[in-house]
Amino acid sequence: MFSIDTLVRDNIRNMVPYSSARDEFKGEAKIFLDANENSLGSSSSPPYNRYPDPLQDELKHALSQIKGIPSEHIFFGNGSDECIDLLYRAFCRPGKDNVIICPPTYGMYEVCARINDIAVRRAQLRGDFQLDLQQIEKLIDENTKIIWICSPNNPTGNAMARRDIEIVLNNFEGLVVIDEAYVNFSKHKSFTLELGEYPNLIILQTLSKAWGLAGLRLGMAFASKEIILLYNKIKPPYNISEASQQMGLEALKNINYVNEMTREIVELREQLLSRLKRIQVVLEVFPSETNFLLVKFADPLTVYSSLLTKGIVVRDRSNFVLCERCLRVTVGTASQNNELITALSQIST
Ligand SMILES: Cc1ncc(COP(=O)(O)O)c(C=O)c1O
Repeated sequence: MFSIDTLVRDNIRNMVPYSSARDEFKGEAKIFLDANENSLGSSSSPPYNRYPDPLQDELKHALSQIKGIPSEHIFFGNGSDECIDLLYRAFCRPGKDNVIICPPTYGMYEVCARINDIAVRRAQLRGDFQLDLQQIEKLIDENTKIIWICSPNNPTGNAMARRDIEIVLNNFEGLVVIDEAYVNFSKHKSFTLELGEYPNLIILQTLSKAWGLAGLRLGMAFASKEIILLYNKIKPPYNISEASQQMGLEALKNINYVNEMTREIVELREQLLSRLKRIQVVLEVFPSETNFLLVKFADPLTVYSSLLTKGIVVRDRSNFVLCERCLRVTVGTASQNNELITALSQIST
């Protein structure tokens, strides 16, 4: 039986959280002398001398309207990367617990595990980049706390089969995290619709990709109220800056523009995919449900450095398992993609 109370680390269950000035008094007042802020003003314009809302109520309300998910099921992190790290701190006992990742996948699941002294078990994806359920099952033991599933996956670009994810959710008694950083570019539906079904489900999304706000560092976790309460209990008191909250709130009004950009990126991705397939040095282009393409070359390192001489930088993923000889290319603007194609067609085998 799944129980958050038994899953959470004892020290986290038993601790008293920090209570900030803004936690203790939230209302309007004439004079605020409770937080040791600079009462005279700010060195910046607009001024930022006041601490931000620790729980980002307005931002959550706006996101809640867009996603159709109540605010109590939303956590904002300083990028999804903070949402990842905090899960280790809440649930995984250093030196004792383990998590399962499905490589090749996003690197921070492993990096945060190492920082928190948590063992990482690898259920490598199958040759078709789908989950290897048998391997996952074999790796689970009583100290396995989290299974990380990235869908659509970075760097392979594909979404995991929905049925496979459901099997993991139904059979694993720890937490299942589905990282949906690229979900806007996918034809697959988000698992946020299933939140009520699975108490062990955590979905990560981010405003860094489709929303074009990577510089603001706004990542989200959607989960049960109990899990969100734990996130709030252990997070740094003011983890989302006032500037990020304000600009995030403004940006959330531009959903039509985001949908337009997303449609265009998907179109540009499909064009780029078919053009890349016709390039001599390209061996294979993998289908993608993201804003990037994984491309296999006969000689990726020569391609990488040759692109660099033309001022084009892509990501070398050739030393990742299953991505041998592959580079990862973000979808650019139409003219950036043209430059990329021209540069690639000038490389001879
Ligand atoms: C799968 C995945 N998750 C999370 C992130 C990081 O997101 P954020 O910018 O919100 O920290 C990335 C960034 O590339 C990613 O590829």
